Amino acid sequence: MFRISQYMREIAAPSPLGPKRNPPGPVVIWNLIRRCNLTCKHCYSISADKDFAGELSTAEVYTTMDDLKSFGVPVLILSGGEPLLRPDIYQIARRAKQMGFYVGLSTNGTLIDESNIAQIAEIGFDYVGISLDGMRETHDEFRRKQGAFDASLHGVRLCRDAGIKIGVRFTLTQDNAHDLPALLKLVEDEGIDKFYLSHLNYAGRGNKNRGRDAFLQTTRNAMDLLFDTCWDYLQRGLEKEFVTGNNDADGVYLLQWVRARFPEREAALRAKLAQWGGNSSGVNVANIDNLGVVHPDTFWWHYPLGNVRERKFSDIWTDVSDPLMAGLKAVPRQIKGRCGECSYFDVCGGNTRVRALQLTDDPWQEDPACYLSDEEIGVSGERERVTLSPYIPIRGVKIA
Ligand SMILES: C[S@@+](CC[C@H](N)C(=O)[O-])C[C@H]1O[C@@H](n2cnc3c(N)ncnc32)[C@H](O)[C@@H]1O
Ligand code: SF4
Repeated sequence: MFRISQYMREIAAPSPLGPKRNPPGPVVIWNLIRRCNLTCKHCYSISADKDFAGELSTAEVYTTMDDLKSFGVPVLILSGGEPLLRPDIYQIARRAKQMGFYVGLSTNGTLIDESNIAQIAEIGFDYVGISLDGMRETHDEFRRKQGAFDASLHGVRLCRDAGIKIGVRFTLTQDNAHDLPALLKLVEDEGIDKFYLSHLNYAGRGNKNRGRDAFLQTTRNAMDLLFDTCWDYLQRGLEKEFVTGNNDADGVYLLQWVRARFPEREAALRAKLAQWGGNSSGVNVANIDNLGVVHPDTFWWHYPLGNVRERKFSDIWTDVSDPLMAGLKAVPRQIKGRCGECSYFDVCGGNTRVRALQLTDDPWQEDPACYLSDEEIGVSGERERVTLSPYIPIRGVKIA
């Protein structure tokens, strides 16, 4: 995750570079159920409105939670499928809170209504993230359900009015990029605390539909808008969090943004960004799926590391006899192609490995979704890039 607001605050008022602090354990995104009332075009968990056999029981979830706690996991994000379809979701969430986890709920929001908002508020979730992938027409098309937008927005408003910290999550593609300005306005008008732009990752239906991924220029435009909006909030003294996920080149692009506006702040920002270090799948982010299978992050469902029914999460997570985990935990990661040659590798860490795998069959190849030009990252440009077909060049920038 890339915390734009945090770095914008650094640009506005730089603070000294302290020692790098490693979190005690990974953030665990836990898909407690695969069933969902929607069938979104990009869904990595290929969820649908049917039961999936063999999901973890309440007791198994509790046993795993105990292990996660003793391993030092600080954050649990309860997700799905649609987590509110799990009958024991409130019990699980309440126990997680009592154990001292930071607990987030990742939901499509359509099932939050007057009948359950008091129960949701009573849990004391630290954060509820609700997906809005565009304005009404776009969102309903993307999420393949008429009325989804209105139901999700109703859920957002109920949570906000109940005093819950709330965020809107938007997965950017070529089909919904045009709605980003309106969505950012909605976030302001509705008093929503946080905006999370998720770049498309090539997993599940998101891989099947990867041809609809945002063009590189579209991504640049979206990031320009996000940076400018975030900076504007800061200037107005308004608290709002902007974050992104699934494209660590965002850190490199922010450096460019700073260079153009406050060149004297670039070096300090770069040091902070290098300390962050970019992609942390398999290191600071972990995933447990509905069947108890552990993965390096949510987009690696095709790659099992082990099952919490057979081995403790803590044992699975620290086992680097697995070649993927060994490669992800290597410092620095050994990445090929233009990512390996990039002058900003220390900032982004080679970005998202799943996209490289899906396009080349090699998880250590360059990430095709890097939207910086060869010139901008100081690579020769004589080699062909790994790209989605048809290849869409970045407007106005020479790129191989
Ligand atoms: C799988 S959903 C589960 C929670 C809930 N059903 C929802 O849609 O918010 C979790 C988040 O992942 C996002 N997501 C799903 N597939 C994705 C993909 N292929 N790339 C990037 N984000 C994705 C969704 O938009 C959502 O914000
Ligand atoms: S993205 Fe979320 S709402 Fe959409 S199908 Fe997947 S789990 Fe369901």
